[in-house]
Order: sequence, then structure tokens, then C-alpha cells
Amino acid sequence: MLSFVDREAELATMERLFCSESGSLLILYGRRRVGKTALIQHFLADKAR
Ligand SMILES: Nc1ncnc2c1ncn2[C@@H]1O[C@H](COP(=O)(O)OP(=O)(O)OP(=O)(O)O)[C@@H](O)[C@H]1O
Ligand SMILES: [Mg+2]
Repeated sequence: MLSFVDREAELATMERLFCSESGSLLILYGRRRVGKTALIQHFLADKAR
């Protein structure tokens, strides 16, 4: 992937749930090739640092 674009709202939601004190369940769904796997990989790349 050259650059990761246009997922600010999704990443903000994921960050909010990730930092939540209570347990959370995120269901990520969408059409084929819309970017589900890339979104998760981008989010987790930050967390591994
Ligand atoms: N935010 C993004 N910016 C740039 N490219 C992206 C972005 N999200 C996904 N892509 C590119 O779009 C293509 C499809 O992404 P991805 O494989 O994550 O989709 P998917 O929803 O997981 O697909 P599938 O349903 O087949 O599993 C990939 O080449 C990926 O690099
Ligand atoms: Mg996928």
C-alpha cells in the first residue's frame, strides 16, 4: 500500500473502544476489498510500538 487514506473516523472509533475501561466488541464488516484488513493492520501497527 502506498499510503493509507481516509479512515480517520474509523480509527477514532477504534481508538475510543480500545481505550475504553469497559469491555468492547467491534464488528467490522463491509464489501469485499473495501479495506477491512488494511484498517485493522494500520490500527494495530500503532499499538505494537
Ligand atoms: N485506507 C486505505 N488507503 C489506501 N489503500 C487501501 C486502504 N484500505 C485498503 N486499501 C487497499 O485496498 C485493497 C483492499 O484492502 P483489504 O484487503 O484490506 O480489503 P478487505 O476489505 O480486507 O478485503 P476482503 O473482503 O477481500 O478481505 C488493498 O490493496 C489495500 O492495500
Ligand atoms: Mg480482508
